[in-house]
Amino acid sequence: MPFYLTTAIDYVNGRPHLGQAYEKVASDVIARYKRLCGVETHFLMGNDEHSQNVYKKAKESGLEPLDYCAEMEQVFRARWAELDVSFDDFIRTTEPRHRAAVQQLAQRSFDAGDIYEGTYEGWYCVSCEAFKPEKDLVDGRCAFHPTLTPEWIKEKNFFFRLSKYRDRLLAHFEQHPTFLQPDMRRNEILRLLESGLEDISMSRAGQAWGIPLPFAPANVVYVWFDALINYIAAVGYGTDEARFAHWWPANLHVIGKDITRFHTVVWPAMLWSAGIEAPQQVFGHGWINYGGQRMSKTLGTSVEPGDLVAKFGADPARLYLTKEIAFGQDGDFTWERFEERYNADLANNLGNLVSRVAAMVQKYRGGLAKPAGSGGPLAQVVADASRTYHAAMSRLAIHEAAGAAFDIITATNGFVAEAAPWALAKDPQAAERLDAVLFEAAEAVRAAAVLLLPVMPASAAEILRRVGDTTPVAELRVDRDATWRSTGERTVSAGPALWPRTDLDAAAAHGRTPTSAPTPPQETTVNDTTGGAAPVPPPAPVAPAADAPPATDAKIVIDDFMKVELRAAKVLAAEAVPKSKKLIRLSVDVGEPEPRTILAGIAEGYQPAELVGRMIAIVANLKPAKLMGIESNGMVLAASPEGGAPILVAVDERVPPGTRVR
Ligand code: MSP
Repeated sequence: MPFYLTTAIDYVNGRPHLGQAYEKVASDVIARYKRLCGVETHFLMGNDEHSQNVYKKAKESGLEPLDYCAEMEQVFRARWAELDVSFDDFIRTTEPRHRAAVQQLAQRSFDAGDIYEGTYEGWYCVSCEAFKPEKDLVDGRCAFHPTLTPEWIKEKNFFFRLSKYRDRLLAHFEQHPTFLQPDMRRNEILRLLESGLEDISMSRAGQAWGIPLPFAPANVVYVWFDALINYIAAVGYGTDEARFAHWWPANLHVIGKDITRFHTVVWPAMLWSAGIEAPQQVFGHGWINYGGQRMSKTLGTSVEPGDLVAKFGADPARLYLTKEIAFGQDGDFTWERFEERYNADLANNLGNLVSRVAAMVQKYRGGLAKPAGSGGPLAQVVADASRTYHAAMSRLAIHEAAGAAFDIITATNGFVAEAAPWALAKDPQAAERLDAVLFEAAEAVRAAAVLLLPVMPASAAEILRRVGDTTPVAELRVDRDATWRSTGERTVSAGPALWPRTDLDAAAAHGRTPTSAPTPPQETTVNDTTGGAAPVPPPAPVAPAADAPPATDAKIVIDDFMKVELRAAKVLAAEAVPKSKKLIRLSVDVGEPEPRTILAGIAEGYQPAELVGRMIAIVANLKPAKLMGIESNGMVLAASPEGGAPILVAVDERVPPGTRVR
């Protein structure tokens, strides 16, 4: 069974913003997942051009509307290419195939007696491109666009007999409980249907920008009536019957929550009126806000997806949009949150694991991971995660699916820390166990990468290459390739760090104050009331004076502090150092391929056993020093109250090992 998936077509009166990008990326994840399942998939996107705002914007830019739209097509296509959105077709509503479809549907509907002439008198919101009943206005303004005054319109229009379809729509909703998802949206529309439907205006008079009605060419088709038809125009309605029969009805329209009424009330009725089946499902996703506020260019609360991609690459942006926003609910973006997730999921978790596994297979086995045994605990983790992943994808819970793939990554990091390959490597008796551990970790990374292909296509492909899966990506199938394989040697290769840690510099650069701000070397940032970041000179170095306080109280400049690399670390093992009253030898995970040995003078305060599993802070860039014949690589931070035993500086459990502390 083929799968036909569409997104809303975007108005081109502005450059693509993060909200539109969110919808395209989420839909792309679904399309890529379907392809990965081996389903014949057609993924449509496009631009909505017959809007008055687009016309106005073109004129303001001194361009003919068609020329302006052609330029904007390039802008939108470039953005989608940057985000690796893999649409199969891109439609513009000024194309001849679209015009043919619009005119054919309008004619059919007219012939069916569903279009009649009347006079529209009422409000119109140009920004929504929608007629607004008085009851929907708030203080006389459109609820979505409170800064604009709606226009009062009185014109001769053609009306579409929407009211005629109310009962059929109610029955359709009842017979197809998942026609509109999520349920919250479905309930909204059910309430609307229950309260009755009025006929709607489907044409505009006295305008040249639009598609003329075939039966009354002095009028153009109203932009929404026109736009919805793109979904059938693109697959051959009015131009290629066989193609249309192959793809229609669409399996899924992905759209924002603000336009569900058009898609689940007006659109099915239009189709039925012309003798065409309704689409199978509409998903109304939530809105993405900026720091809790509606995205708006005028308010400075909008995010250019291009900025995000330029700084972090497409895949980190795609991962955030997919995993951090529950699909169907509203979500939020801030630069701080983005960087926090980037560091946690990518730098510390996935990126670190990929580097670690490659480094260990290189170091201990010359780059060859050999199968040994039939798989340990991670085989079950992969099986469980795959099941969760598919179940989530089938409900369009793409955030849960991405989370399931990351469950494998987290479990594999834990498995490596526990299995301690670096210790096994020192024991010749443990050679087989070391093989098994390395293979198991590499195999788990491989399976997770297959599951991540829809979300992070380029990175997942690179990870597959690094763990020795040479199958061309287009030939990979999720059911076959994301299951555990306990055979086949793998050539594992190392490469540059996939996602180097970031230090909240994007948040600072975008004028939002980082909460745990690592300050740039020469200046620091403070929050001003407008949310901008104002540079403040660094404290001046304290000059020694006759009555200067003791040297230990002298202030340092930020550069001095930044020289000390403090990092979070997890204690993996601890043992008393023979013949020493104070020293404990620690083996700590600092997010590096191998744990470090650090000697800590804390034996008066702690028993070695109670330290294992604890999160601590260390100085990571201290020159190695030998104590009692053991090389120590770093220093543990502890406070020593006067006369008391040292107490370790605690680090929250949620901080991944290796994270910089400042
Ligand atoms: N042109 C119409 C759609 C016609 S479909 C036959 C339109 N265009 S739009 O450019 O305003 O919006 C395009 C899509 O982006 C819509 O699905 C809309 O809901 C979505 N979003 C616009 N802003 C958004 C956010 N801030 N967050 C998430 N999606 C948002 O409506």
